[in-house]
Amino acid sequence: MMKDELLNALECAKAQIRASRSSAELKEVRVKFLGKKGVITQALRSLGQVPPDERPAMGRLANDIRESIESLVESRENEIKKAETEARLKREAVDITLPGAVPEVGRKHLITRTFEEIERVFSNMGYQLAEGPEIETDWYNFVALNMPKDHPARDMQASFYVTEDILLRTHTSPVQIRTMQRMAPNLPIRIIAPGRVYRRDDDATHSPMFHQVEGLVVDRGITFGDLKGALLAFAREFFGEETEIRLRPSYFPFTEPSAEVDISCTMCRGCGCRVCKGTGWLEILGSGMVHPEVLRHGGYDPEEVSGFAFGMGVERIAMLKYGVDDLRLFFQNDKRFLEQF
Ligand code: DAH
Repeated sequence: MMKDELLNALECAKAQIRASRSSAELKEVRVKFLGKKGVITQALRSLGQVPPDERPAMGRLANDIRESIESLVESRENEIKKAETEARLKREAVDITLPGAVPEVGRKHLITRTFEEIERVFSNMGYQLAEGPEIETDWYNFVALNMPKDHPARDMQASFYVTEDILLRTHTSPVQIRTMQRMAPNLPIRIIAPGRVYRRDDDATHSPMFHQVEGLVVDRGITFGDLKGALLAFAREFFGEETEIRLRPSYFPFTEPSAEVDISCTMCRGCGCRVCKGTGWLEILGSGMVHPEVLRHGGYDPEEVSGFAFGMGVERIAMLKYGVDDLRLFFQNDKRFLEQF
């Protein structure tokens, strides 16, 4: 009787062990047969009720069956683990023949590059870098540059005022004054001042924030010829050695005389085209001999020293050199544009 039960239990256990799909299921089966209340355990406990002469054989059978179930569970456990590992490897498999994900490489903005090129040309000519604040006083931005309050030339530079006396600088020219004050009475001064400037303008050719490079040379006996020589050297180094320059009389409150400087058109080499509007010339900067009043504000005696200054728009120069036709492209951060340089 008991023998049948035991053999039957073995068959059930075999089937259930085979049917187990996970370690958890398998554990349940094991408990069911071999746990404290398991079929086999119960059978071993109730050996006492078996007639004494059958007991040893029955005991041996129960033990054999327990061992069989134990070893079946163990080998099924191994199978399940192996299958689980295989499934996981399959899921996480890496195809080493796939091309790798190439990280994108950043680059310098065209404005940064243009700054660096301008700085390189002038530092090769012995100029030093100077800086000034972007939030500037009315005095440095205008008054010291010979543009007192109500001076009509202020109208050309629609400004962002912070207070009545403080504004976002409209040009890098205040660095002229700051540099002279820092250097006086030492000579010579030979600096360029790159930086951001701000004006209330916003259209295809004007941005409320843009960049300039200021230049200032002060020494004894500086002449207009020095100005022209320096700017011609810059133009040829920066735009190419065949470049010519042309100086046109102009007006700035802080220089006297003043000149606007053109370069021969980079597109048509002076023959006349769409870019230079048929004139053969492109305006690149404003310049002139430093006004005596400006030298005085900087702490120098205009009877003893003279100087020249110039100021150029970096966006404009980058547009001419690299053939960019819309200023707004510099500030839209469109990678398709930025990647081209
Ligand atoms: N500051 C002028 C502007 O932003 C440019 C300029 C003209 C600077 C003549 C100069 C200069 O140093 O001599 O329009």
